[in-house]
Amino acid sequence: MATSLTNLVSEHLYEQRIRQDSLSVEKLATTFAPLFQSAQADALQEALVSSGGEMGGRLMIIDEDGKVQFDSFSQLCGVRLQLPEVLSVLTGGQSTAYGIHHLSSSQRSLTADAADEYVAYCTASLIGTRGRLGVLLFVAPVQEMMSSLNQVQQQLLSVFLAVAVAALIVALVFSQIITKPMAAMTRTIQKMGKGDLSARVKVRGSGEIRQLAESYNTMAEQLERLDRSRNQFVSNASHELKTPLATMKILLESLIYQPDMPAELRAEFMQDMNHEIDRLTGIITDLLTLTQMDSRRMELHPSMVNLSELVEETLRLLTPAAEQRGQCLTGQVTPGCNLVADRSKLGQIIYNLTENGLKYTPDGGEVTVTLTTEGRTAILTVQDNGVGIPPEDQGHIFERFYRVDKARSRETGGTGLGLSIVRQLVSLHKGVITVDSAPGKGSTFTVKLPMDGKEVSAS
Ligand SMILES: Nc1ncnc2c1ncn2[C@@H]1O[C@H](COP(=O)(O)OP(=O)(O)OP(=O)(O)O)[C@@H](O)[C@H]1O
Ligand SMILES: [Mg+2]
Repeated sequence: MATSLTNLVSEHLYEQRIRQDSLSVEKLATTFAPLFQSAQADALQEALVSSGGEMGGRLMIIDEDGKVQFDSFSQLCGVRLQLPEVLSVLTGGQSTAYGIHHLSSSQRSLTADAADEYVAYCTASLIGTRGRLGVLLFVAPVQEMMSSLNQVQQQLLSVFLAVAVAALIVALVFSQIITKPMAAMTRTIQKMGKGDLSARVKVRGSGEIRQLAESYNTMAEQLERLDRSRNQFVSNASHELKTPLATMKILLESLIYQPDMPAELRAEFMQDMNHEIDRLTGIITDLLTLTQMDSRRMELHPSMVNLSELVEETLRLLTPAAEQRGQCLTGQVTPGCNLVADRSKLGQIIYNLTENGLKYTPDGGEVTVTLTTEGRTAILTVQDNGVGIPPEDQGHIFERFYRVDKARSRETGGTGLGLSIVRQLVSLHKGVITVDSAPGKGSTFTVKLPMDGKEVSAS
């Protein structure tokens, strides 16, 4: 840049100089031509000396053979000068020529100061009445111009060098500042890649790096939570599966080691085992449903469903069990409530909630299932006057394997999966589920489902 900048400046300066010198030399050539033609040697020499002095350079007249005839310094008369500018006028057919030359030390004889390294030759043809007579040569001292140009170039070069070095240092410092947290982040990510999910990045500075670190930490937290809940899920599931298996093993061993067991007891044991197998199958079915929903492989088979009929149907299914325990299961169903949904999944929602109502209500209690519509929303409520749910547990009952009273739930055969399945099925249908309960008084579960496929708001 420094070089091209100085080149630009020097070109401009050269041009000015060339124009000036060429104009003066051409003018002088027209003045000197008649003197040279009429061979007025003294007058010509005088004119050369005075004009040369005025212009601050050396003037020479060279004849057609290239020999110096007159010299304002009176030194080179009779010498043949082979300068390119002279030749281009004499043989090249040009009327003027200009050139700046760098002289080697042996060539420095044409200027006034022998120390000058640069010289400019400006030539113009001398035209007499019968054509060209020769060439007027002006040897211009351009040393000063060239020196100052050189100086400017040197200065520019050093300034640019200093700027380049400074830029390099600044770039290095900045890249260090930027890459340091990046490198730290990479190390943490590698740690995490090796299985340490507790690794966190230090959040520093501001702007994008900070944002990146924060997003990364959020992601890491989520992953850790997911990992933890998955581990817990697996351990809970295995525990739940182990219990019926252990019971069956005890029953089976009793049958094996007590061959003379009374037939009645044997039949009872067999029945218990059958019950445990049913329970095991139920848990496995629930687990499969949940994992299917987790991996988003759960496929809905939507069709036009008459929800009113479906509620009635489910109630009919559960009535014998309710009657057995002297419970009153009633339905208050608004007829003709239709919506596009997966029939069997909706059935599962109603069944699970009603089954819970019956299960967590003492013998002789009441469970009421209501279906109404409100605008484009179907509202299903399952109300019981059973044991109720303490407020601190209400936020957890939709979690997998969560049971309020573990001992009692196990007695009643609960695994704690029913409500988490219900909640996921409801949200698959773009609905919401809420619970309202008071311990000892009973619980009300409310499911709101959209009948137009638009998401239902929680309020
Ligand atoms: N209507 C209700 N009244 C009182 N408690 C309830 C009611 N419904 C659910 N719960 C409480 O919430 C817990 C979770 O219910 P959920 O249906 O998920 O599991 P579960 O009934 O124990 O087992 P599962 O339904 O998987 O066989 C229950 O264990 C129970 O403590
Ligand atoms: Mg249940």
